[in-house]
Amino acid sequence: MPEKVLITRKIPDAGLQLLEGFDITILSESPPERGELLEAVRGAAGILSTVTETVDAELMDAAGDDLKVVANMAVGYDNVDLGDANERGVVVTNTPEVLNETTADTAFMLLLAAARRLGEAERLLRSGGWEAWGPMQLTGPDVWGKTLGVVGFGRIGQAVARRARGFDMDLVYHDQYQNEEAERELGARYLGLDELLQKSDFVSIHTPLTPETTHLIGAEELGLMQPTAVLVNSSRGPVVDEAALADALKGGSIFAAGLDVYEEEPEVHPKLLGLENVVLAPHIGSASIETRDKMAVLAAENLAAVLRGEEPKTPVDA
Ligand code: GLV
Repeated sequence: MPEKVLITRKIPDAGLQLLEGFDITILSESPPERGELLEAVRGAAGILSTVTETVDAELMDAAGDDLKVVANMAVGYDNVDLGDANERGVVVTNTPEVLNETTADTAFMLLLAAARRLGEAERLLRSGGWEAWGPMQLTGPDVWGKTLGVVGFGRIGQAVARRARGFDMDLVYHDQYQNEEAERELGARYLGLDELLQKSDFVSIHTPLTPETTHLIGAEELGLMQPTAVLVNSSRGPVVDEAALADALKGGSIFAAGLDVYEEEPEVHPKLLGLENVVLAPHIGSASIETRDKMAVLAAENLAAVLRGEEPKTPVDA
């Protein structure tokens, strides 16, 4: 009997094809209700999950003793409880590397859009409110030649830094670890977080979500930034205190923000929704056609490898 595999959302065909030999259940395109998920997971040997599912003890227990692998189709795996997986001997995998460049593109897109007020400009035009070209209409700070502070200098943070070099930006970064090789390669300088926030014209966040990074950027940190500065978050919502950010944007203590992620997705803090100086994207960091194919393929390869008794390509360190 082929082993049972639960795929929690409809994923690109490129990934599905690799799982053809298994007994596959695919839930719908939209996020499944928890009850539906708990029901559908029964007897599964493998779960291919996405960021919209919480994979915890309850779900793994509902799967039962056959469960061997949770293959998360994302680089972040804060939605999977690694401790619970470990206790049950369940392997967890993610999809690193394949989305670095696409996610860095998204961060840079938000950075440019927030600085140059693209959201506000488009709203003006579409509402019929654009009457004429204006000498001071919709001006925002230049991006090129300014200082970019990257918080979290991993693979995605470094890909953002490479883009910034093309804009002749000065680069500073903060991370748990200093990375001298990347510093040399990218011409970036290491700074403590407070100093980075004080000195940067643009701050882009690329940390994973952990207890240490939850609300890493709160009222105090936003208060250190320049009133002309722009904050971009394409990592995980809870890294930034959304209410504090809304206050900072409203009070003018920073110029603008670009967000792709939120504390309680798909909810967005109502105060943010009412502001002109924030560009809001619905968690599309890795959403290029090519990258979503690659993520689906890697997640499927990982899942199939574990069920065949092989080493998965990209296990998450427990
Ligand atoms: C998406 O948010 C990811 O972690 O890949």
